Amino acid sequence: MPHHDAAALVLAAGKGTRMHSDKPKVLHTLLNEPMLGYVFAALEPLFGPAVLTVVGFGADQVRRAYPGREATFVTQTEQLGTGHALQTALGALRKLGRAHCLVVNGDTPLLESDAVERFLAESAGADVAFATITPEHPGAFGRVIRDADDRVTAIVEAKDLDPTKHGDPREVNAGVYFLRLEAVTPLLDRLTNANKSGEYYITDLIGLAREAGLSVEGVRCGDDVNLMGINSPLELAEAEEHLRRRILRGWQARGVLIHRPELVSVGPGVKLEPGCELRGPCELYGTTSVARGAKVGSHCVLTDSSVAENALVREFCHLEQAQVGPECQVGPYARLRPGAVLEQAARVGNFVEMKKATLRKGAKANHLTYLGDAEVGEKANVGAGTITCNYDGKNKFRTEIGAGAFIGSNTALVAPVTVGENALVGAGSVITKDVPAGELAIARGRQTNMKRRNKAS
Ligand code: UD1
Ligand code: CA
Repeated sequence: MPHHDAAALVLAAGKGTRMHSDKPKVLHTLLNEPMLGYVFAALEPLFGPAVLTVVGFGADQVRRAYPGREATFVTQTEQLGTGHALQTALGALRKLGRAHCLVVNGDTPLLESDAVERFLAESAGADVAFATITPEHPGAFGRVIRDADDRVTAIVEAKDLDPTKHGDPREVNAGVYFLRLEAVTPLLDRLTNANKSGEYYITDLIGLAREAGLSVEGVRCGDDVNLMGINSPLELAEAEEHLRRRILRGWQARGVLIHRPELVSVGPGVKLEPGCELRGPCELYGTTSVARGAKVGSHCVLTDSSVAENALVREFCHLEQAQVGPECQVGPYARLRPGAVLEQAARVGNFVEMKKATLRKGAKANHLTYLGDAEVGEKANVGAGTITCNYDGKNKFRTEIGAGAFIGSNTALVAPVTVGENALVGAGSVITKDVPAGELAIARGRQTNMKRRNKAS
């Protein structure tokens, strides 16, 4: 249910120094989806369009990755800290006209809508609330300081922790906050950067709110790994593995048969029907779908592709923006590039590459073939080693092969060219002119046999 009195703000301006990368941290991927996409997916059902994002380091890259959200980005030109990020976005937030704001760090991709909703419910009525967790190793997290009455007095960043003063609290700040904007606005001006990092911390709002007599709530969320922040390549790998298992278990529970599940990666946007079968190692990403009865063999990578009912994708195939129809057979070792379309019961065999090419019902290209910018009619057969020569160095041209046609092995089809229905092309031909329907075309040097000279027999 959308929260009509709250907006959401994602903090995503940081560089992610510990990732040692020129790419903004929030664009690093888990299962081929950027971190930030997961955060959006968790927030959107609750906040609809009222989700703003603070970007800074690599802002252009982040904006380009989400063109549909252009109006919802706020730029923090200098990354002076999480508190400064909130200050930067405050104007845009207030314009949304909502009394409250949920703030989340953009580096928490395991966050789920349910968890956010529970946190919001627990936070209701507070001026300032934040989620706390108690991980095994509190490491670099901000520590939560409570008084004798168990009331939060402050968050102290790990760097600034003074054990003699603060002890060694195990409870830490998860980086998810609920703020009543009216209450925190005056406090924002009072943030300073007088700390070990020289940054304006959003976490200092907690102490300031407490001093100002506002109601402050540290909502305990157990040792919830879903609130884990990602700061390093190791944490990214751990989170990705966690997510991979979560997604896989979901599909297994819904009746997908998975062999060697420890070696199967399925992205969050993939759709699998009960009764389909996957064999690890394999990877399915983007908007890929696999229908009931279809099988995907080991060592396959499928991106934004569909595999229809009872189709078989054998081992070692690469599919990208390809459509495999019902009862088709693909591979082993096939490469289907964007725009490859196989209609019902079509077959593509080993070392066949297709790009912007269609095999109509029952058509076959079983061995060592390149089909680019081509259409192959129903039940046509494309022999081993056939190449559509679709590119003259400047432009691309189409090849049309009619229904029932037979293209002999090692044929070069120099596009633009059409082979008519039921036509036959002799093996080894270089076809530069259209072949009329039903005719036989042979275009190769004629063979002559003659006696060998200077050879004793
Ligand atoms: C932050 C919290 C810490 C908490 C932890 C939880 C602060 C000061 N500390 O630490 O208490 O335990 O998260 O994961 O907030 N960002 C900006 N602008 C900036 C700086 C950062 O937008 O100027 C963004 C980053 O892109 C990131 C998020 O804010 O997504 C958190 O920043 P990060 O540097 O990762 O903070 P932590 O050190 O993890
Ligand atoms: Ca972090």
